[in-house]
Amino acid sequence: MFIDTHCHLSVEDYDDIDSVILENREAGIDKIIISGCTRESIIESLDLAKKYPDVYVTIGYHPSETDITTYDDIMKLEEQIKQEKVVGIGEIGLDYHYGKENKDAQMHLFRRQLAMADRHHLPVVIHSRDATLDTINILKEFPRVKADIHCFSGSLETAKIYISLGYYLGIGGVVTFKNSKLLSVVKEIGLDHILLETDSPYLTPEPNRGKKNSSKYIPDIAKCIAEGLGISVEEVSKITLENTNTLFDLGSKL
Ligand code: NI
Repeated sequence: MFIDTHCHLSVEDYDDIDSVILENREAGIDKIIISGCTRESIIESLDLAKKYPDVYVTIGYHPSETDITTYDDIMKLEEQIKQEKVVGIGEIGLDYHYGKENKDAQMHLFRRQLAMADRHHLPVVIHSRDATLDTINILKEFPRVKADIHCFSGSLETAKIYISLGYYLGIGGVVTFKNSKLLSVVKEIGLDHILLETDSPYLTPEPNRGKKNSSKYIPDIAKCIAEGLGISVEEVSKITLENTNTLFDLGSKL
């Protein structure tokens, strides 16, 4: 049994979403959590959650949306998160990869959504790119908010900081890449704070790297971690499922 804790499933990326969901089920993926992080994809993902029993969602405005997200969007988001099967807010965060020009606006949007998560007792899914220190400092302002550091690929030192704050690390296809040090970080920290994710349609794990990603490749990520840690795939599945349910409380949302 597997859950993909973070993926994007949009008509923009997939021609036939129904068949993607069917393929996921055939591959043994029991539930997926879709992240809607733009105005359009938030609506799209909420519709998919209504349509499919195995689809859950996290919604929130990505840092790349900073310049187009309005006050009305945020007001609306606070209503949208009350819908059934919304299990968190995200992906939200900071992204300085293309520059820091709108850093203050990014921080403002990030803080507003963290405050919303705090008010509604929801966990957050964090996007942090080239912005580790600011991300940690802002998260520390909201000590009651639990977090999934999505697509984690940082150092052991950074992993330890996030874990000390009680957060979970979303591990995806990068862990299977030959040139990545991520598996050695996972070996050091163990499975107690790890979630499995694909971040599809991006970052397809080996041996299918280069193809379009989807949740059906979650077992490849689990297998890589199992081999790295010298344990069974079942053990990886069991522990990461427990972590997923602890953070996102899927059981109470059925
Ligand atoms: Ni993502």
